[in-house]
Amino acid sequence: MSKTTKKTSGLSQDKNWWRQAAIYQIYPRSFADSNGDGIGDIKGITSRIPYLKSLAIDAVWLSPFYPSALADGGYDVDDYRDVDPKLGTLADFDEMLAGLHKEGIRVFVDIVPNHSSNLHEWFKEALAAKPGSKARERYIFRDGKGANGELPPSDWVSHFAPSSWTHESTFGGKNNQWFLHWFAPEQPDFNWENREVQKDFLKTLKFWSDRGVDGFRIDVAHGLAKDLSEPFRSMPVHEGLEQRGNKGKGIWGDRNEVFAIYKEWRKLFNQYDPPRVAVAEAFVHPERLPLYASTKTLGQCFDFRFIETPFEAHAYKVATKEAIELAQKNKSSCTWTLSNHDQIRHATKMGLNPAVNRRSWMLSNGTSHPLDKESGTANALAASIYILGLPGSTYMYQGEELGLHEVTDIPESEIQDPQYLRNLKVDKGRDGCRVPLPWTASGSSFGFGSGGAHLPQPKWFADYAVEVEEKDESSPLAIYRKALSLRKELQTKEEIKWHKTTDISVLHYSRPNGWNVIINFRAENYQMPKGELLLSTRPVVNGKIPAGTTVWFKKK
Ligand code: GLC
Ligand code: CA
Repeated sequence: MSKTTKKTSGLSQDKNWWRQAAIYQIYPRSFADSNGDGIGDIKGITSRIPYLKSLAIDAVWLSPFYPSALADGGYDVDDYRDVDPKLGTLADFDEMLAGLHKEGIRVFVDIVPNHSSNLHEWFKEALAAKPGSKARERYIFRDGKGANGELPPSDWVSHFAPSSWTHESTFGGKNNQWFLHWFAPEQPDFNWENREVQKDFLKTLKFWSDRGVDGFRIDVAHGLAKDLSEPFRSMPVHEGLEQRGNKGKGIWGDRNEVFAIYKEWRKLFNQYDPPRVAVAEAFVHPERLPLYASTKTLGQCFDFRFIETPFEAHAYKVATKEAIELAQKNKSSCTWTLSNHDQIRHATKMGLNPAVNRRSWMLSNGTSHPLDKESGTANALAASIYILGLPGSTYMYQGEELGLHEVTDIPESEIQDPQYLRNLKVDKGRDGCRVPLPWTASGSSFGFGSGGAHLPQPKWFADYAVEVEEKDESSPLAIYRKALSLRKELQTKEEIKWHKTTDISVLHYSRPNGWNVIINFRAENYQMPKGELLLSTRPVVNGKIPAGTTVWFKKK
C-alpha cells in the first residue's frame, strides 16, 4: 500500500530532500500569538508564513503543540493526536500545513515517546487501576522498598527531580506503588515492552503522516528501552556517556533493544511517498549515533557537538571532520546545530569569556561577568554561516537569525522551566531562550501579539526586532536570508575539501562546485584568495576578512 501526499504545489518530489535541508525550529508558544492571550499559537505560525518563506528554509520543526499542562514546556503530552486548545485546533493545523506546503516548506512535528504527561488518559486510568492490571502495565509501576513500601524501588535519579520514582499518592493513586519518570513527576515513563504502547505510537505516527506531516523529531530517542531487571542496578547519579559506554547495555538509555522499535517505525515511514523522515534526539556515545541515523531506523540523528565546541579554528575543524565521518558511516547526512530550545543561545555563549562558568553566570542573572553582545552576535553569525556551507542539513532555532541573545534575568516568580524549579534552584533553566520573539521595535510584546507575552521580554529585544533588522542590510537577518537563499542555488554533492591557510586561526573549505568558505576566528585580517565574493558576515574591504567573520566566495 502506498500513500501519496495530496498534490501540494510547492514541494519537490525528491526523496532525499532532507539530506541537505535547512530546518527552522519553531517553539510554538513563543513564536507568534494570533489572539492576544500571550501564548503563541498555530494561527500565529500561519500568519508568519511569508516571513518563513523569506528565510528560504526547506522545513520547519514544531516543538510540541499538543494538549499539555506545561509541566515541561509541552514535552508533557496529554494527547498525542490533537492540538492544545490554547494553541488552536486540528483544522488550524491543517491550514498551517497546507499554507507551508504551498510555499515549499515541509513540516516536522515533535514526537515524545519516552513519557506522556500525568494527565494522559492512560495514566489517569493506570492510577485508578490495581497493581498488575493492564492499565498499569503501560507505565512502570513498582512496589517500594522498606517495611511498608515507603521507600522508592531504586536509587535512580531523575533529570528534573531528586528521585526518578514518585509515589502514586502524589497524583491520587491509592495502591501504595511508585511510578518511574526520567524527567518531571508529571512525565511518567511508558513501558516500551508493552505492545499496546508500541501500537499506539504507530497510530500517532500514522495519524500525522496521513495529515501530510513530512518528518518527526524524536524526543529522547535513546530512552525508550530500559534495564528493569531486578534487583535494580544502582544509579545514584545521572548515567553519563562514560558509564553507559558504547555497548548498548546502559541502565537507562541507548540500550540495543531500542532499535527494534525504530525498525518498525521505519517500515511505516517507508509506506509514504516520499517516505516520512525522522531525526533522533539521542545523547549517546558518538560511536552509537549512526545506529539511530541508519536508513533502517530513524535516518538521521542530531549531532550536538557544535553546541559545546569553542569558537576556535582547531576545535571547529576537528568537530567538522568527526561529524562528517560519523554521518558517512550509515549513509546518513550531517545534522549541524548550534542552538535549540534547551540551550543557551549561541550568540550569548560566544559573547562571554569562555572561561566563565555559564551556569553560575546565569544564576547571577547574567551580572557576574560582562557579556559582549555585539561580538557574541557577530561570532554567532560567523559560526552559523560557516555551518550553512557544510555538506548536510542544518537545524536552526527561532531567533538565531536575529542574532538574539539569551534572556538572563527572568525573575524567579516567572520561571516556568522544571529544570530550575526542580533542580533545587541550582540551574536557571531554559526559559531564557524561549522568550517570545520580537517582531516589532515597539508595541505590545514587540509585535508577538496584542496581549503581552507568557515570559517577560526585556527592553533590549527592540534592537533585535524583525522589523528593525529588515531595514538593515548588514543585520543578522539580512545575512541569514541571503545565505539561505544562496545555499539553495549553490547546493551540491555532500563533499568537502579542506584548504591550507596562512594563519592557524582561519579555516578554509570548499564544495565540489567551487563554493568556498573561509572563517576567520581571530586573525587580524585575512587576505581572501581570488574569487567572486558572494557573502560576508562583516564587510570585507580590499579583500581583507576581519576577525569573527565568515565569507562565501566562488572559484571557477
Ligand atoms: C528533550 C527536550 C526537552 C525536554 C526533555 C523531556 O530533551 O528537548 O526540552 O525537557 O526532552 O521531554
Ligand atoms: Ca494565542
